[in-house]
Amino acid sequence: MNILVINGPNLNLLGTREPDTYGRETLEEINQWLESQPEAKGHIFKFFQSNHEGEIIDTIHSDREWAAGIIINPAAFTHYSYAIRDAIAAVGIPTVEVHLSDISKREDFRKHSVIEAVCIGQVMGLGKRSYLEGLKRLLRAGGEV
Ligand code: DQA
Repeated sequence: MNILVINGPNLNLLGTREPDTYGRETLEEINQWLESQPEAKGHIFKFFQSNHEGEIIDTIHSDREWAAGIIINPAAFTHYSYAIRDAIAAVGIPTVEVHLSDISKREDFRKHSVIEAVCIGQVMGLGKRSYLEGLKRLLRAGGEV
């Protein structure tokens, strides 16, 4: 399965960004960890991070023939990007929304996701394991496990 892993704004600073909330691992380390998990074996990953809404949308569009599944941490866009939500709905690729932190237990503005409704699942609060759980949900949905 070809899997597109998208990370939104400020996640390029993981490792030093609010480590008490997001941990001390860099995004590169998390990506490598995900790719090295037994569940990832036999699958092809493409990792993309951007601080720009339009670039995330362009990537969803340009990889729409390639990707069989998307794991997305939309970061702050989670809470207000109808454009990313529409892009996911437009391409119709099974998508799982993931978060390092538990957004349901944080500030009120983080509790609501405008992306969730167009995803096959939402995983939060497990740190980097949220990405692995997201992968498992995609594989399950694709009938691969
Ligand atoms: C986040 C949660 C968002 O509210 C926040 O804006 C982020 C990261 C998470 O992974 O916990 O940038 O998506």
